[in-house]
Amino acid sequence: MEASLLPKSWNVDQILDDLDQHGFTLIDDVYSSEYINALVKECTVHLDEFRNAAIQNGVISNIRSDHILWINENLEIAQQHIETLKQLSQILNRYFYLGIKDVEAHFACYNIGEFYALHRDNPQGKNGRIISTVFYLHEDWQDNWGGELHLQDKNQQWHIIQPKPNRITIFQSDLMHEVLQAKHQRLSITAWLRSDGGIL
Ligand code: OGA
Ligand code: MN
Repeated sequence: MEASLLPKSWNVDQILDDLDQHGFTLIDDVYSSEYINALVKECTVHLDEFRNAAIQNGVISNIRSDHILWINENLEIAQQHIETLKQLSQILNRYFYLGIKDVEAHFACYNIGEFYALHRDNPQGKNGRIISTVFYLHEDWQDNWGGELHLQDKNQQWHIIQPKPNRITIFQSDLMHEVLQAKHQRLSITAWLRSDGGIL
């Protein structure tokens, strides 16, 4: 399997097998500490630009209370993560014929008490999101800090995923999931591999 441009810690065969069997996978120790440090810095210097994710096109919903910042080419460190996800997309396209054409991503910050209620990222297959990924970048996370990701896999089994730093979870965008209230500030990048939009 061609994987030269993915981080060394990514076991492509395991990722493909997990996605095939369960519709999701977890990878730990994703990046070097140098890269994480740079990414955390880029995220935190922009925290005052994060916007309430519950307000979209002027419409307020109560499904979520986190704050987000969409990633564009000016966020150079985060762009490297997006490049990695584009490499992954090409592998997934070759193996599963997913037709992924683009990656869109935002930073997310859950302050104390913030959550994201039960939802699917692509409820009726209408919005082009094929695969969802969430990478956790806060410096520390303890098991009693809340903020767990609850995810129902493709066989209807529920999983509790701790948002451990330097972990990425990758799952089909049509799966049901929620983020429990965080008891500490929780930082992440959510990215979607999409079948519409640009070209990889
Ligand atoms: C999302 C989402 C999960 C997480 O951003 O759509 O469900 O663990 N995030 O942050
Ligand atoms: Mn989601």
